[in-house]
Amino acid sequence: MTAANPPERTDVHLPYATAANGETLSWNISSHAAWSHCLIVGPTGGGKTSVIRTLLTQAARRGIPFAGIDPKTIEFDGLETEPNCVTIMGDALRAAEFIRALHCEMHARVAWVQENREQPTDLQPLIVAVDECFILSGKWQRLAKTGDDETREQLKELDPLGAWADLAVLARSAGIRLLLGVQRPDASLFGGASGNARDNFGTRISLGNLSQDGALMMWGDSTVGREVDTSVKGRGIALGDDGRPTAMQIRTPEQALAETTFTPMTWYSRELPNFLDNASRGD
Ligand SMILES: Nc1ncnc2c1ncn2[C@@H]1O[C@H](COP(=O)(O)OP(=O)(O)OP(=O)(O)O)[C@@H](O)[C@H]1O
Ligand SMILES: [Mg+2]
Repeated sequence: MTAANPPERTDVHLPYATAANGETLSWNISSHAAWSHCLIVGPTGGGKTSVIRTLLTQAARRGIPFAGIDPKTIEFDGLETEPNCVTIMGDALRAAEFIRALHCEMHARVAWVQENREQPTDLQPLIVAVDECFILSGKWQRLAKTGDDETREQLKELDPLGAWADLAVLARSAGIRLLLGVQRPDASLFGGASGNARDNFGTRISLGNLSQDGALMMWGDSTVGREVDTSVKGRGIALGDDGRPTAMQIRTPEQALAETTFTPMTWYSRELPNFLDNASRGD
């Protein structure tokens, strides 16, 4: 598939939960969706990986390509055989290379839109999931300090944290959707103390109970998500269609769609397909 002939794009909603009022909650990953990234917050064992797997399985079977970074290296086992899985990786250095290549892909996508006078909605959506993104950034920071000379040099050149910061701001308009799992909300995800980047994550999910600060960061209200029934797995709060936080129950991956559509991948950069070629050859 060449970028010159983009396939028709339609709205894609990935259902993940049932709200208290019975409504189905979905992650809208359509290119024109104003709120496109998805953030999942939950304590250890709270069900973060399960939601990410549910969403990726749903996406894969609807023909949406995805890539997964799993610094714990066991959370995404089996997902590599899903259709439209671009790559799954656990190694921090490899993830740094991927993030740098994704950064190139993002800029190539924006350039493609400008040069061809197309709309960002014509870009093929790509989901990039990072389970435990603070474990990943912690690994990068440790490697940059204590890695061998070659690793430190490589990381300096790749500057994955710099690339990541750009992606957080610009990926939305390049059809790249981030799906992040973290143990607790952190101001750095929301644009620092101002919190003005919170709406970047139009889909927000908190599993189990939040601290007062966490509730304020996630929901703008220190009382929301403080009294969740933690005896039931997958219980928590998410944004409803009306944009308000609502109590919900996550669905399991087994409840994802069974039918499969395979979508040829459109790349806009050289760097990302090169990275993937090398990764598949085990370089
Ligand atoms: N919606 C759900 N319904 C039923 N069981 C669930 C649900 N969500 C998670 N579980 C179960 O709860 C356990 C923990 O879930 P999961 O591994 O997704 O949590 P996690 O937040 O990723 O934990 P960790 O921090 O250890 O990575 C798993 O055994 C999983 O099968
Ligand atoms: Mg997990």
